[in-house]
Amino acid sequence: MPTETVYGLAANALDPVAVARIFEAKNRPAFDPLIVHIGQRAELAQLVTHLPAEAEALMQAFWPGPLTLVLPKTEAVPDLVTSGLPHVAVRMPRHPLALRLLQSLPFPLAAPSANPFGYVSPTTAQHVMDQLADQVGFVLDGGPCQVGLESTVVGFRSDRAIILRQGGIPQEAIEEVLGHAVDSQTSQSRPDAPGQMDSHYAPHRTIHLLEHGTRPTDVAKESWISFAPHAEAMASLAPDGSVATAAQRLFGVLRHLDQQPGGPVWIEKAPEIGLGRAVNDRLMRAAHRA
Ligand code: TXA
Ligand code: MG
Repeated sequence: MPTETVYGLAANALDPVAVARIFEAKNRPAFDPLIVHIGQRAELAQLVTHLPAEAEALMQAFWPGPLTLVLPKTEAVPDLVTSGLPHVAVRMPRHPLALRLLQSLPFPLAAPSANPFGYVSPTTAQHVMDQLADQVGFVLDGGPCQVGLESTVVGFRSDRAIILRQGGIPQEAIEEVLGHAVDSQTSQSRPDAPGQMDSHYAPHRTIHLLEHGTRPTDVAKESWISFAPHAEAMASLAPDGSVATAAQRLFGVLRHLDQQPGGPVWIEKAPEIGLGRAVNDRLMRAAHRA
């Protein structure tokens, strides 16, 4: 299914057998929990037992949209969906086709990104076909994803929001709605962010990162991707220089790189603001070597 972030591999979230097929198709380890997608607020009652006021405020501001909330689960949610955790991740996507699909079904859809485990997430229907054609019945083609990287995942500690994964809703926007600074506990320090592998989105070519605003020394033009366009770089992440464009193009660029023969590539990071945080998070995972 299309969403505004990336394409998802969807199954009935309340049917453990259907959910097991997701793990099988993606070759995903069972300790990596899935996001449950809903088409309307009323479905929440069936899935979660408690809604902190801050969760309410964030839903009001960002749903439908690229925000996932991790909340205490009801017994209706199979343990396989949450990898045995007592919390379930829920989001209401804003892609019109995704919303129509969800609203036409009598159950919510569990959907991880529709890529083989550990690989770059798909942002077009063709990306899904390239990698999972033999595993899925069909792909609902909703065009290229507008946001281009995954949703922001927010959990709650004593009812206070904490960011578990940077994504399509910028941290600054969340802080503005809540009226206070929010901790970001992603990646390295992450007891509460299961499944966030340091090495992820890993293309076969070695990726080196350059701090934003810097350029490589002694590196051939063919192996340098700048952030904004630069005459000496082979390509740029953001032809218009914006972090939103970099987010939208990032996975396509990584995928394209992976299809080209060649040695190491140097990529300039985004500025660490807004969607730039999520872009840099994904870049660091792509560059990470176990
Ligand atoms: O934008 C998105 O979020 C996309 C589209 C398809 O909606 N989905 C997506 O799913 O990125 P996936 O499976 O690739 O990533 C889900 C991540 C997990 O790896 C984990 O970090 C977090 O969401 N997550 C899911 N359930 C959780 C839970 N119960 N507690 C904490 N984190 C959870
Ligand atoms: Mg994924």
